[in-house]
Amino acid sequence: MCGIIGYIGNRTAVPILLDGLRRLEYRGYDSAGVATLADGKLEVRKRTGRIANLAELIQQSPPAGTVGISHTRWATHGGVTDANAHPHTDQSGKLVLCHNGVIENYATLRDQLTREGHTFHSQTDTEVLAHLIGKHFDTAGGEPTRARLVEAVRNALKQCVGTYGILVLHRDVPDAIVGARRGSPLVLGLGKGENFFASDVSAIVAHTREAIYLKDYDIAALGRDEFEITSLLGGASGFEVSKVEFTEEDVSKGDFAHYMLKEIYEQPHTIQDALRGRLSREEATAKLGGLDMTPNELRAIDRIILTGCGTACHAALCGEYIIEALAHVPVEVEYASEFRYRNLPLPKDTLVFVISQSGETADTLAALRESQRKGLRTLGICNNVGSTIARESDGGVYMHAGVEIGVAATKSFTSQVTILALIGLLLGRIRHLSTSEGLRIIDELEALPGKVERILALDSHIAAIAKKYAHSQAMMFLGRQFNYPVALEGALKMKEISYIHASGHPSAELKHGVIALITADLPTVVVAPEDSVLEKNISNIEEVKARKGPIIAIGTEGCTKLEKISDAFIPIPACSDYLAPVLTAIPLQLLAYHTALHLGCDVDKPRNLAKSVTVE
Ligand code: G6P
Repeated sequence: MCGIIGYIGNRTAVPILLDGLRRLEYRGYDSAGVATLADGKLEVRKRTGRIANLAELIQQSPPAGTVGISHTRWATHGGVTDANAHPHTDQSGKLVLCHNGVIENYATLRDQLTREGHTFHSQTDTEVLAHLIGKHFDTAGGEPTRARLVEAVRNALKQCVGTYGILVLHRDVPDAIVGARRGSPLVLGLGKGENFFASDVSAIVAHTREAIYLKDYDIAALGRDEFEITSLLGGASGFEVSKVEFTEEDVSKGDFAHYMLKEIYEQPHTIQDALRGRLSREEATAKLGGLDMTPNELRAIDRIILTGCGTACHAALCGEYIIEALAHVPVEVEYASEFRYRNLPLPKDTLVFVISQSGETADTLAALRESQRKGLRTLGICNNVGSTIARESDGGVYMHAGVEIGVAATKSFTSQVTILALIGLLLGRIRHLSTSEGLRIIDELEALPGKVERILALDSHIAAIAKKYAHSQAMMFLGRQFNYPVALEGALKMKEISYIHASGHPSAELKHGVIALITADLPTVVVAPEDSVLEKNISNIEEVKARKGPIIAIGTEGCTKLEKISDAFIPIPACSDYLAPVLTAIPLQLLAYHTALHLGCDVDKPRNLAKSVTVE
């Protein structure tokens, strides 16, 4: 949700900033802008639309300078206009600011500043913050030093309510960029004779592998060869230099047309990576050291809450079915955005898992903090190493899925479900599951990557089905039991990237209302592998067919009775019911991908969406 990058060094800043912005574009792409400092002059360029539009503008008159900040926006306050694009300047025109987050009390601050004679040119909360920092800098008086700029940032932020990851550049303090965070991510990248700020290390991994993940309330002043991190309340703030594990290649598309397709194809490996080192045949269980809990502590758990947003919440719903089936522990799923404001009864032996690919989703982070406030042990299931949720949780399980850039989540879903199955296995084995049952589950988990390979081999078959139905006005997705959440996820994928309205339902709910929608023009996708509810799903299909609705079925290889009654059939390898979501989700990802492609949609950057939603 908005991406920011800053550079200070000896190279021309603009190409580095533009390249970083392209890598951060998944965070928002409503507008983009850069500001550089050259020969005592600030140069600002900004434009609505994609980074390509900004690059075009820059080409006409490239700003010089070896210091600069930049931003790609996902609009919160104020429409998508050039004036609302970042960076924003202060009243003096000497200070520029980029911001990711929301300043909640901006209207009050703006009124006050207006009364003091400030004039605003945009509708954004960010411009108000730029003016506020500028005011503190100007009223402090004295030499325009780096310390004075840091102090101005500190004093302004003390007046702000809300979230921010900011970068500030001042014409009179040419050898520094000041960054600060609260609630929105900010990473400091360390180079030789040059340093970086970014919302996410993927933007700077081409230049450095040494990163410092700033903490909430950190303020960092960055020079070419040095930096200083202090806290909002004053005094030094501790930090740790982390080695970035992934490479530039990991964040490129390789030979794939889109990140989303690349990430779909990575799933045999990412599922393997979620399992790697976590299965013990000797004890017939899962080993999840990151939970940091003894078997006795795990045995004492009598309730689990799983929470997350979007796709992560759908994975959580799969987890509810899986953990209850394998471990017989009651599981409840709450959208993180609901959890944070509910006052759920939370008995002390409740364990909470917050699930988030990015580890930065604002609602999920708030749910984590609320759960911890209530004294509950709260664990994370995250992909992004060093993310805020990963750092603030009391332990957890990393997904190890590699960077996910496509805005529509794919590989993170199957990794999350795999990890939830590992948790089910672990909790089941310390309760009622036998050694032989544990070993059978391990066999089934280990067979998943090979089965996923076989589904990916059906890509062109799925593309042909997508082409046939791509011009539908709407689509329905049905699934039952373990595959009900998959129907929700399939509908979400379709909506997100093809803009076809789609809704997911438990198959049997069809007759309680949604059957009214069925016509010959509305395809229904039914997720119906061979399991205990196959016959029930087939009855629902008959009900749709009786009303002339076309059926696209995802079923088990060789299931002729399903194939016969379907207009299109996508076979998946046989597997046990509780692991089916890891397989059945994949044809739905490909179906959405090819539909969007056929309709000419921007698959990796769907309209209005952002990969990482760091605002409420
Ligand atoms: C955004 C993305 C979704 C994602 C959700 C949760 O809305 O567009 O694809 O599922 O955030 O993201 P997280 O990083 O917390 O898993």
